[in-house]
Amino acid sequence: MMRNETRYGRGFTLWFTGLSGAGKSTIAEIVEKELQERGVKVEALDGDIVRTNLSKGLTFSREDRDTNVLRIGFVANLLTRNGVGVIVSAISPFKEPRDEVRRQIVDFVEVFVDAPLEVCAERDVKGLYKKAYSGEIAQFTGVSDPYEAPAAPDLHVHTDQEEPHESAQRVIEKLEFFGYLRPQGVEAYN
Ligand code: ADX
Repeated sequence: MMRNETRYGRGFTLWFTGLSGAGKSTIAEIVEKELQERGVKVEALDGDIVRTNLSKGLTFSREDRDTNVLRIGFVANLLTRNGVGVIVSAISPFKEPRDEVRRQIVDFVEVFVDAPLEVCAERDVKGLYKKAYSGEIAQFTGVSDPYEAPAAPDLHVHTDQEEPHESAQRVIEKLEFFGYLRPQGVEAYN
Protein backbone atom coordinates (compact mmCIF):
# COMPACT_ATOMS: atom_id res chain seq x y z
CA MET A 1 0.00 0.00 0.00
CA MET A 2 1.06 3.54 -0.68
CA ARG A 3 1.92 5.88 2.09
CA ASN A 4 0.11 9.24 2.28
CA GLU A 5 -3.02 7.82 0.72
CA THR A 6 -5.75 8.59 3.23
CA ARG A 7 -8.50 6.13 3.94
CA TYR A 8 -10.00 8.00 6.90
CA GLY A 9 -13.47 6.73 7.69
CA ARG A 10 -13.02 3.61 5.61
CA GLY A 11 -13.68 0.29 7.28
CA PHE A 12 -10.89 -2.20 7.82
CA THR A 13 -10.30 -5.60 9.33
CA LEU A 14 -7.46 -5.91 11.76
CA TRP A 15 -6.76 -9.63 11.99
CA PHE A 16 -4.73 -10.91 14.93
CA THR A 17 -3.37 -14.41 14.45
CA GLY A 18 -1.15 -16.31 16.86
CA LEU A 19 -0.92 -19.07 19.45
CA SER A 20 -3.28 -19.33 22.39
CA GLY A 21 -1.85 -17.12 25.11
CA ALA A 22 0.28 -15.06 22.72
CA GLY A 23 -1.69 -11.94 23.67
CA LYS A 24 -4.14 -11.44 20.80
CA SER A 25 -7.17 -10.56 22.93
CA THR A 26 -5.15 -8.39 25.31
CA ILE A 27 -3.73 -6.26 22.49
CA ALA A 28 -7.09 -6.23 20.71
CA GLU A 29 -8.79 -4.76 23.79
CA ILE A 30 -6.27 -1.94 24.07
CA VAL A 31 -6.54 -1.16 20.36
CA GLU A 32 -10.34 -1.28 20.53
CA LYS A 33 -10.41 1.33 23.32
CA GLU A 34 -7.98 3.60 21.50
CA LEU A 35 -10.02 3.40 18.29
CA GLN A 36 -13.24 4.16 20.16
CA GLU A 37 -11.58 7.17 21.78
CA ARG A 38 -10.67 8.36 18.30
CA GLY A 39 -14.30 8.07 17.21
CA VAL A 40 -13.94 4.96 15.06
CA LYS A 41 -16.89 2.56 14.90
CA VAL A 42 -15.45 -0.72 16.14
CA GLU A 43 -16.58 -4.33 16.42
CA ALA A 44 -14.47 -7.05 17.99
CA LEU A 45 -14.74 -10.68 16.93
CA ASP A 46 -12.87 -12.84 19.40
CA GLY A 47 -12.42 -16.56 18.74
CA ASP A 48 -13.36 -17.54 22.28
CA ILE A 49 -16.61 -15.55 22.06
CA VAL A 50 -17.43 -16.45 18.44
CA ARG A 51 -17.19 -20.10 19.41
CA THR A 52 -20.05 -19.59 21.92
CA ASN A 53 -22.45 -18.29 19.26
CA LEU A 54 -21.65 -17.95 15.55
CA SER A 55 -19.40 -21.02 15.61
CA LYS A 56 -21.07 -22.89 18.46
CA GLY A 57 -20.64 -26.63 18.11
CA LEU A 58 -17.52 -26.48 15.95
CA THR A 59 -14.58 -28.59 17.07
CA PHE A 60 -10.86 -27.97 16.70
CA SER A 61 -10.45 -30.28 13.72
CA ARG A 62 -8.74 -28.75 10.70
CA GLU A 63 -12.06 -28.57 8.86
CA ASP A 64 -13.93 -26.90 11.71
CA ARG A 65 -11.15 -24.41 12.36
CA ASP A 66 -11.26 -23.47 8.69
CA THR A 67 -15.05 -23.07 8.90
CA ASN A 68 -14.64 -20.91 11.99
CA VAL A 69 -12.09 -18.66 10.31
CA LEU A 70 -14.13 -18.33 7.12
CA ARG A 71 -17.27 -17.47 9.12
CA ILE A 72 -15.42 -14.81 11.05
CA GLY A 73 -14.05 -13.51 7.76
CA PHE A 74 -17.53 -13.41 6.24
CA VAL A 75 -18.91 -11.28 9.07
CA ALA A 76 -15.78 -9.13 9.17
CA ASN A 77 -16.22 -8.42 5.46
CA LEU A 78 -19.86 -7.33 5.90
CA LEU A 79 -18.86 -4.93 8.65
CA THR A 80 -15.72 -3.67 6.91
CA ARG A 81 -17.56 -2.68 3.75
CA ASN A 82 -19.96 -0.67 5.92
CA GLY A 83 -17.21 1.43 7.42
CA VAL A 84 -16.56 -0.46 10.62
CA GLY A 85 -13.14 -1.12 12.09
CA VAL A 86 -13.24 -4.84 12.80
CA ILE A 87 -10.81 -6.42 15.21
CA VAL A 88 -10.50 -10.19 14.91
CA SER A 89 -8.61 -12.28 17.47
CA ALA A 90 -8.49 -15.92 16.49
CA ILE A 91 -5.64 -18.42 16.46
CA SER A 92 -6.47 -18.96 12.77
CA PRO A 93 -3.61 -21.45 12.51
CA PHE A 94 -3.85 -22.29 8.83
CA LYS A 95 -2.46 -20.13 6.07
CA GLU A 96 -4.96 -21.10 3.38
CA PRO A 97 -8.17 -19.85 5.04
CA ARG A 98 -6.35 -16.77 6.32
CA ASP A 99 -5.29 -15.95 2.79
CA GLU A 100 -8.80 -16.66 1.51
CA VAL A 101 -10.19 -14.10 3.96
CA ARG A 102 -7.48 -11.63 2.95
CA ARG A 103 -8.55 -12.00 -0.68
CA GLN A 104 -12.19 -11.33 0.25
CA ILE A 105 -11.55 -8.31 2.41
CA VAL A 106 -9.77 -5.57 0.54
CA ASP A 107 -9.03 -3.46 3.59
CA PHE A 108 -7.24 -6.12 5.55
CA VAL A 109 -4.37 -5.77 7.98
CA GLU A 110 -2.78 -8.96 9.25
CA VAL A 111 -0.99 -8.84 12.59
CA PHE A 112 1.11 -11.76 13.76
CA VAL A 113 0.99 -11.82 17.56
CA ASP A 114 4.06 -13.85 18.28
CA ALA A 115 5.57 -15.35 21.39
CA PRO A 116 7.59 -18.57 21.66
CA LEU A 117 5.47 -21.61 22.48
CA GLU A 118 7.35 -22.05 25.77
CA VAL A 119 6.39 -18.52 26.80
CA CYS A 120 2.70 -19.07 25.99
CA ALA A 121 2.77 -22.41 27.82
CA GLU A 122 4.50 -20.80 30.78
CA ARG A 123 1.87 -18.04 30.94
CA ASP A 124 -0.89 -20.63 30.58
CA VAL A 125 -3.55 -18.00 31.26
CA LYS A 126 -6.43 -20.45 30.80
CA GLY A 127 -4.68 -23.57 32.12
CA LEU A 128 -5.11 -25.22 28.72
CA TYR A 129 -1.44 -25.89 27.94
CA LYS A 130 -1.17 -28.02 31.09
CA LYS A 131 -4.10 -30.05 29.84
CA ALA A 132 -2.70 -30.21 26.32
CA TYR A 133 0.68 -31.51 27.53
CA SER A 134 -0.97 -34.09 29.76
CA GLY A 135 -3.09 -35.25 26.83
CA GLU A 136 -6.34 -34.17 28.45
CA ILE A 137 -6.99 -31.89 25.45
CA ALA A 138 -6.19 -33.21 21.98
CA GLN A 139 -5.26 -31.25 18.87
CA PHE A 140 -4.05 -28.25 20.83
CA THR A 141 -2.40 -25.64 18.62
CA GLY A 142 1.37 -25.57 19.02
CA VAL A 143 1.41 -28.71 21.15
CA SER A 144 -0.42 -31.39 19.20
CA ASP A 145 -1.73 -29.41 16.24
CA PRO A 146 0.10 -27.17 13.76
CA TYR A 147 0.39 -23.41 13.70
CA GLU A 148 1.41 -22.02 10.31
CA ALA A 149 3.02 -18.66 11.00
CA PRO A 150 2.22 -15.94 8.45
CA ALA A 151 5.11 -15.46 6.04
CA ALA A 152 4.44 -11.79 5.34
CA PRO A 153 2.16 -10.22 7.95
CA ASP A 154 1.57 -6.47 7.77
CA LEU A 155 2.84 -6.29 11.32
CA HIS A 156 4.74 -8.73 13.53
CA VAL A 157 4.66 -8.08 17.27
CA HIS A 158 6.78 -10.02 19.76
CA THR A 159 4.85 -10.13 23.01
CA ASP A 160 7.73 -11.70 24.92
CA GLN A 161 9.80 -8.59 24.16
CA GLU A 162 7.33 -5.75 24.50
CA GLU A 163 4.44 -4.80 26.78
CA PRO A 164 0.85 -5.11 25.49
CA HIS A 165 0.43 -1.33 25.26
CA GLU A 166 3.63 -1.11 23.16
CA SER A 167 2.35 -3.76 20.73
CA ALA A 168 -1.01 -1.98 20.64
CA GLN A 169 0.74 1.30 19.88
CA ARG A 170 2.55 -0.33 16.95
CA VAL A 171 -0.80 -1.55 15.63
CA ILE A 172 -2.25 1.95 15.85
CA GLU A 173 0.80 3.35 14.04
CA LYS A 174 0.37 0.77 11.29
CA LEU A 175 -3.26 1.85 10.83
CA GLU A 176 -2.06 5.44 10.62
CA PHE A 177 0.64 4.46 8.13
CA PHE A 178 -1.92 2.71 5.91
CA GLY A 179 -4.15 5.77 6.11
CA TYR A 180 -7.09 4.30 8.01
CA LEU A 181 -6.43 6.53 10.98
CA ARG A 182 -5.49 10.16 11.06
CA PRO A 183 -2.06 10.45 12.69
CA GLN A 184 -2.65 11.88 16.13
CA GLY A 185 -1.63 15.46 16.72
CA VAL A 186 -1.14 16.26 13.06
CA GLU A 187 -4.28 18.41 12.92
CA ALA A 188 -2.74 20.69 15.49
CA TYR A 189 0.03 21.61 13.07
CA ASN A 190 -2.00 21.87 9.90
S1 ADX B 1 -9.21 -21.31 15.68
O1 ADX B 1 -8.13 -22.30 15.54
O2 ADX B 1 -10.50 -21.82 15.19
O3 ADX B 1 -8.87 -20.01 15.06
P1 ADX B 1 -10.13 -19.93 18.02
O4 ADX B 1 -9.30 -18.71 18.11
O5 ADX B 1 -11.52 -19.79 17.50
O6 ADX B 1 -9.32 -21.08 17.25
O7 ADX B 1 -10.28 -20.55 19.48
C1 ADX B 1 -9.15 -20.79 20.23
C2 ADX B 1 -9.46 -20.85 21.72
O8 ADX B 1 -10.17 -22.04 22.02
C3 ADX B 1 -8.17 -20.90 22.52
O9 ADX B 1 -7.76 -19.63 22.95
C4 ADX B 1 -8.54 -21.77 23.69
O10 ADX B 1 -9.07 -20.98 24.72
C5 ADX B 1 -9.65 -22.65 23.18
N1 ADX B 1 -9.26 -24.03 22.79
C6 ADX B 1 -9.89 -25.15 23.23
N2 ADX B 1 -9.38 -26.25 22.64
C7 ADX B 1 -8.40 -25.83 21.80
C8 ADX B 1 -7.49 -26.52 20.92
N3 ADX B 1 -7.51 -27.85 20.78
N4 ADX B 1 -6.62 -25.78 20.20
C9 ADX B 1 -6.60 -24.45 20.35
N5 ADX B 1 -7.41 -23.75 21.17
C10 ADX B 1 -8.32 -24.42 21.89
